[in-house]
Amino acid sequence: MNIMITGATSGIGQALALAYAKAGHNVIACGRSQQKLDALAERQGNILTLCFDLTQFDSYPPLPNSMGKLDLLILNAGDCEYIDDAINFDAKLFERVININLISIGYALDAWLKSVQCGGRLVLISSSAQLLALPRAEAYGASKAALSYLAQTLSIDLAKDGIEVSCVHPGFVDTPLTSRNTFAMPMIVSSEQAAQKIIQGIAKGKRDISFPGVFIFLMKCLSWLPFSLWRRLAIRMN
Ligand SMILES: NC(=O)c1ccc[n+]([C@@H]2O[C@H](COP(=O)([O-])OP(=O)(O)OC[C@H]3O[C@@H](n4cnc5c(N)ncnc54)[C@H](OP(=O)(O)O)[C@@H]3O)[C@@H](O)[C@H]2O)c1
Repeated sequence: MNIMITGATSGIGQALALAYAKAGHNVIACGRSQQKLDALAERQGNILTLCFDLTQFDSYPPLPNSMGKLDLLILNAGDCEYIDDAINFDAKLFERVININLISIGYALDAWLKSVQCGGRLVLISSSAQLLALPRAEAYGASKAALSYLAQTLSIDLAKDGIEVSCVHPGFVDTPLTSRNTFAMPMIVSSEQAAQKIIQGIAKGKRDISFPGVFIFLMKCLSWLPFSLWRRLAIRMN
């Protein structure tokens, strides 16, 4: 398969790139750091690299000539920053998070969706955070809730083009992104475990790939509570 992965220089994206390349697939790995991309390509054959900032639409490169149409387009790159003081809302922080987690997805779809072949698959990496209004997650949670909605609407509208859409909802994954968190992260899994769950879900043709199962079940139970009750609990937790 020909597979393009954004955010392949660390965490989940890197684990996906290495696992797919190791299995013999052709991988295009995207990131902002040429040094990290070179290190990735040295670890495993079959990896081409593209170095650019996903939030800059004009910097999007075309697909390498040597590569045919894509079987899989995995839009994984993202970031998390928390709103620590909502009354003094940080618009710039909000903009940064929405830009990389949501607006850049629109840019990538504009640039590359037509390169996905009929019978291929688009994969968006959302988050289990989209299930529930979480304290301090005004920017991250809103971006991921929008992304999950986007995945479902694309799944409807791309059916006529023969392109399937999967949306991934991970719980906590041990990556540079979560290493900044100072709170407890229950049921955290490694990047490699997360990558295996995603690869298995894609192979099975799942439209919703959510893990770990118990964590997702608990999040869903909380999301089914009346909001007034969840609100009281969340205020106490915060
Ligand atoms: N870790 C978790 O617990 C968790 C849970 C749910 C969902 N997710 C989602 O999973 C995805 C991957 O997260 P991760 O935990 O693996 O994070 P990570 O280790 O921090 O990796 C993020 C990747 O995104 C790239 N990236 C960020 N901003 C970019 C930009 N402007 N242009 C190009 N590339 C950019 C980074 O590239 P550089 O290295 O060049 O900056 C890096 O390769 C994200 O969408 C995240 O929201 C993660």
